[in-house]
Amino acid sequence: MQRVEAQITRLIQECDYDEVTHLFAMLQGGKRLRAKLILKIASKHKDAPLLAAIVELIHAASLLHDDVIDEAMTRRGEASINATDGSKTAVMLGDILYSKAFTELVAFDKEVAQTIASSVTALSKGEMMDVKMAENFNSDEQRYLDMLYLKTATLIEAAAKASAILAGKDADKHALYGRNLGLSFQIIDDILDITADEKTLGKPAMNDYVEGKCTLPYIYLYEKLNNEDKEKLISLHAKKPTVEELHWMQAKMQEHKTIEKSFQLAQKLSNEAKQAMHEDESLVNILETMIKRSY
Ligand code: FPP
Ligand code: MG
Repeated sequence: MQRVEAQITRLIQECDYDEVTHLFAMLQGGKRLRAKLILKIASKHKDAPLLAAIVELIHAASLLHDDVIDEAMTRRGEASINATDGSKTAVMLGDILYSKAFTELVAFDKEVAQTIASSVTALSKGEMMDVKMAENFNSDEQRYLDMLYLKTATLIEAAAKASAILAGKDADKHALYGRNLGLSFQIIDDILDITADEKTLGKPAMNDYVEGKCTLPYIYLYEKLNNEDKEKLISLHAKKPTVEELHWMQAKMQEHKTIEKSFQLAQKLSNEAKQAMHEDESLVNILETMIKRSY
């Protein structure tokens, strides 16, 4: 990973603007899941650290823009750039990061470059769908999963597929692995929003629903409720609930086991990914660590 960090530092320095270096230093690097995946899959390829750095810059840019769109004041437990330096600065920094990433990407093999580039269009479509869907209560599971795939799984899928192409490995199997890893990762994140406390999350618990996001545990709950309770659940959508309302939703979720049902889907997707990659122990380990974050 040191080689990835060195590539990221080089790319930022090449932007040749102190303001960018300063602002980028304020960002928390995060788990670097996508970079780790690329290094594992294409470990022997000399360009793997650069590809990993490119994908991390795209990811960082997408989060900068996402925090502006979501009006989020924190990111990874720290103040977001839009909170400290304003939305305009956050958008412009995002623009510099992802255009620099694309400048480097065009030097790669066409198939690798196309895989990553097209995933960014998918990512951006997913973000737009997410925002649109939050305007109204959504009880359609497939619609939710389609959005989730675009918003959070496509870049991970592309990272796995592109690095497989780079390493001369099976692109389709790795794409499936990345896709399912991304999907189950996000489903676990949605579960943690409900089950983890504010301190662990770095944001209020059950905040997704306040933001209008009808995640799987809410969709499954809606399916189980009687008509009167269905109406109550819808009436609480995109609002800050009272403590009683919060407890009501939690109790109903417990009664109808909607967290367990969501977790089962995450597990099913993770198992499919495991099967596709059973010969690669380190990729299986990533899945296992990820699924254990739950509860
Ligand atoms: C986080 O979702 C958002 C994403 C994973 C994708 C955001 C994508 C864009 C803004 C498209 C623009 C792309 C580029 C390259 C500039 P979330 O809000 O559900 O999660 P969070 O809790 O981490 O904010
Ligand atoms: Mg967000």
